[in-house]
This record gives sequence, C-alpha cells and structure tokens, in this order.
Amino acid sequence: MLSVEKLTTIYRDGSGKQVAGAHDVEFSVPTGQLFTLLGPSGCGKTTTLRSIAGLERPSAGTIRAGNRMVYSSDMNVFVPPNQRQFGMVFQSYAIWPHMNVFENAAFPLQMRRNRPAATEIRNKVMACLEAVSLDHLAEREATKLSGGQQQRLALARALVMEPQLLLLDEPLSNLDAKLRDKMRFELKRTQRDLGLTTIYVTHDQSEALALSHEIAVMNQGRIVQIGSPRDIYERPATSFVADFIGSTNFIDGTVRGMSGEELVVDTSIGQLRVEARSRPAPGASISLSIRPEDLHLSEGAPTEQGFNRLSGVVEAKVFLGEVLDFRVEINGVSLLARAHPSLRTHVGEGINIAIDPAKCTMLATQ
Ligand SMILES: Nc1ncnc2c1ncn2[C@@H]1O[C@H](COP(=O)(O)OP(=O)(O)O)[C@@H](O)[C@H]1O
Ligand SMILES: [Mg+2]
Repeated sequence: MLSVEKLTTIYRDGSGKQVAGAHDVEFSVPTGQLFTLLGPSGCGKTTTLRSIAGLERPSAGTIRAGNRMVYSSDMNVFVPPNQRQFGMVFQSYAIWPHMNVFENAAFPLQMRRNRPAATEIRNKVMACLEAVSLDHLAEREATKLSGGQQQRLALARALVMEPQLLLLDEPLSNLDAKLRDKMRFELKRTQRDLGLTTIYVTHDQSEALALSHEIAVMNQGRIVQIGSPRDIYERPATSFVADFIGSTNFIDGTVRGMSGEELVVDTSIGQLRVEARSRPAPGASISLSIRPEDLHLSEGAPTEQGFNRLSGVVEAKVFLGEVLDFRVEINGVSLLARAHPSLRTHVGEGINIAIDPAKCTMLATQ
C-alpha cells in the first residue's frame, strides 16, 4: 500500500551545514497493517513521518501510496499534504476547546471545499465516534473529556476523512501509564476492525511490540533493522537493537569452529554452542546477545536436552511480582537471569544454568 524508497530529509543549521534528519529510509506497509518506527528520541522518526505526510520536503527518494506517487525527487513530484488523503494524530492532539465532541470530529468535513450534505456529515461523524466508543458523548464539551477520551476524539477526527493511510506520532505519550496500556488495546482494536493501514511512531519498545505487524528500529537517522516484533526481540541484528528492545546480556567470544550445525564459541563464561546464522571463520571475534529469560536457572541438574550447561553463583536477586530477577556470576562475569519466583536459591549459593544454542544470538559488528 505504502512504499518508501531511499527517503532522505536533511535539516541544515544557520550556516547551511547538514545537521540531522532521516537518511536512506526504506520500507513498505501492506494494506491493513500497522507498521511502527521505533527508536530513541532524535533518531528521525517524526522527520520520516512528516516527510510522508508532506509536511517536510525531503531532498531525495520516492513515496508511493497505492499506485499514486506522492513524492519523487527524480520525477519532481510533490503532492501537497492536504491532497495526500492521509490522516494524522500527533502527540499534542489539538482538540478545539470551544466545540463539543461532535463538532470537533466534524470539523475536517465542514472545512472541505466540496462539503458533504449535513445528514451525510452526521452519519460519517457518528460512525467514527462509534468506532472509538465516543458516540454516547457526542454533545459533551470537548474540554470535559478525560485524557484518554480526548485522544480517542483526535483519532475520530482523523478518521472522518476516510484516510487511505493513518499516521500516528506518539499518540499515547501524554497519557499516564495505566491509561496508556488501556488505549493501546483500544487503538489496536480500532485499527484492526477498520483495516486501517497505519504508520505508528513511538520510542516505547513495549508499545511497539504490542501493536505492530512490523517494526523498523531507527538510530541516528537510519533504519537499522526491520522485522516482526518477535524477530526484532529474538533476533536483534545489532547490539543497538538488542539493547534498545528490552534488557539483554552481551557476551564477547572467539569462534573455535563448527560442531554439526552449531558454532562453537569460546567466551568469558565458558565454551558455548551457538546456532549458526552465518559461518565466521575460526579465530573471528563475535558478540552474542542472550536475553535474561533465556538463562534457565535450576537448583538440580538441568533437564533441557542439547542446551549449553554452566554453573554459577547467585550474586543478588530482585522480586518483581510475576518474575524474579537474578544476578548470577559465572567465571567472574555477572549476568542477568529472569526466573520464576518459585526458585528459592539464596544469595551466595551455587546454581545451574542451561542456555538453548538457538537463543544465543550472534550480533553484527557495527
Ligand atoms: N525543523 C528542524 N530543524 C533542524 N533540525 C531538526 C528539525 N526537526 C528535527 N530536527 C533534528 O533532526 C533529528 C531528528 O529529529 P526527529 O525526527 O524529531 O526525531 P524523533 O522524532 O525520532 O525524536 C534530531 O536531531 C532533531 O534535532
Ligand atoms: Mg518525534
């Protein structure tokens, strides 16, 4: 549905020097899917989204929506934002304080040059308010809505134009944590029910994992990895991605050789067998990421077949309710392990560790 190729948008400082922006951004979003741009503050997410909306003028690339070219540097195409038929919701969703809920949502239709008839406006607006569960509050003053309701109103206002593509820039970040979790589910439901093709921008990794069909992780103006939430989490391509998406243990090692389909790696915590996704030569230095929940701890002998087996000493533990975080020392290296709270081993005692070779992720050097 949407395809973005080699999109580059550059900002310049007062003296004309390039300062930042987005570089060589490429991705495509199939119809009906939710695609997320995820990364730390300043990595170029908003720049990319505004370029797609037509609110920034890129310096290179192409942007296609369906079979319509909305931007091409080579062909000198720039469709103005109001003709792109995209709906947008920003972090600071400005609702109009002097209008009620209905009037706020109807506003974009009222402003249209070929304004639809009043009954048609009424039907469209009520359908959108119903989609975000605000239809029963249509007559309420917009300022009397809660934060979550205002956010839903901003979404309804974007939906009345029946956008081909929905662009959402950190739409939940002004809400408190509890409401954010709730709105996350509601947003996902609306997106799915209406089959809206959506680009979602966030710096919140759990939001991205929960909502997305696909995620592009950005760093310093560039996309560093694109994949499904599970791919990105389980198979981070670089140490930046592994570190940004959840917590992880980084372990450096030297390749010794192959054992069947697995790579044998000498590391500071001992020799590990690692699922080979590439075949670095013996002697090559590599870096591994192992998630805390993939260090299986047990008091008795580990029962997992084919796993790497190590032993360590519990240095510290933190009870977090549904999980128990352990710091385990192995050969002088301290690792984070996430275990079930039923595990009783005390600080200072020995513990067995089993690690699936498939969960030892080789990272690209960068
Ligand atoms: N209008 C602008 N002029 C100059 N620099 C800008 C402008 N907008 C953003 N930037 C810079 O471009 C980079 C990317 O910004 P942005 O896309 O807003 O990041 P994000 O949304 O990921 O936090 C940042 O370094 C930011 O300071
Ligand atoms: Mg931003």
